[in-house]
Amino acid sequence: MRIDKFLAQSTGLSRKEVHRLIQTGKITLDDEVIKNIGLHVKDDADILLNGFPVEPPRDYYLMLHKPEGFVCSNQDGSHPSVLNFIELPRADEMTICGRLDVDTTGLVLITSDGKWAHRVTSPRHKTGKRYRVVTADPIASSAIDTFAQGLMLNSELKPTLPAELEILSSHEALLTLQEGRYHQVKRMFAAIGNKVVGLHREKIGFITLDDELEPGEYRELTADEVAAI
Ligand code: URA
Repeated sequence: MRIDKFLAQSTGLSRKEVHRLIQTGKITLDDEVIKNIGLHVKDDADILLNGFPVEPPRDYYLMLHKPEGFVCSNQDGSHPSVLNFIELPRADEMTICGRLDVDTTGLVLITSDGKWAHRVTSPRHKTGKRYRVVTADPIASSAIDTFAQGLMLNSELKPTLPAELEILSSHEALLTLQEGRYHQVKRMFAAIGNKVVGLHREKIGFITLDDELEPGEYRELTADEVAAI
């Protein structure tokens, strides 16, 4: 990889800023000052910036505890993005794997690896997503069968895929979906005459939201969690 690309990717600086650092002698490779911006370096090259080691570029796989009031898109006119929480190089270019509504809380996966993000969101991979749902009215026990069979949502042509509902108390349940249609949980409850007043995602596939994470906090996924998707 070219040294300017290596530095831009690992530090998050622009190519222009990197070129300035190189031209002013701030970068060394194996203790030698580098002046050639097009120099090719190995992925594990020993590069220093102002005497401090530069970590080679790599992919990030993160879980975030999303608080209310943030959106799962890179930009939105009215609400800040969940990417604002991520203090890593090139965070603004990362992929948010599936969307939660602005008022939904819980587990969000974020990565710089586009192929992995696709595996999380593609319905073909049938990655179950578990939500804790609080409703305005009591949850009818008939909802278990209705959701298991699939139901038609307003203005859609295909019924929902079978979903698993576990009723925890009169107004609280766990719902596991194999797909992620627009406002799906809220629309499924609306279709049976109820209203979602609280929604929190707890789990995606085998990855459970770490209960050590406060809203707005994130951590890197373990190698096992990354491999589980
Ligand atoms: N379903 C919804 O209705 N909202 C979400 O944020 C996620 C799933």
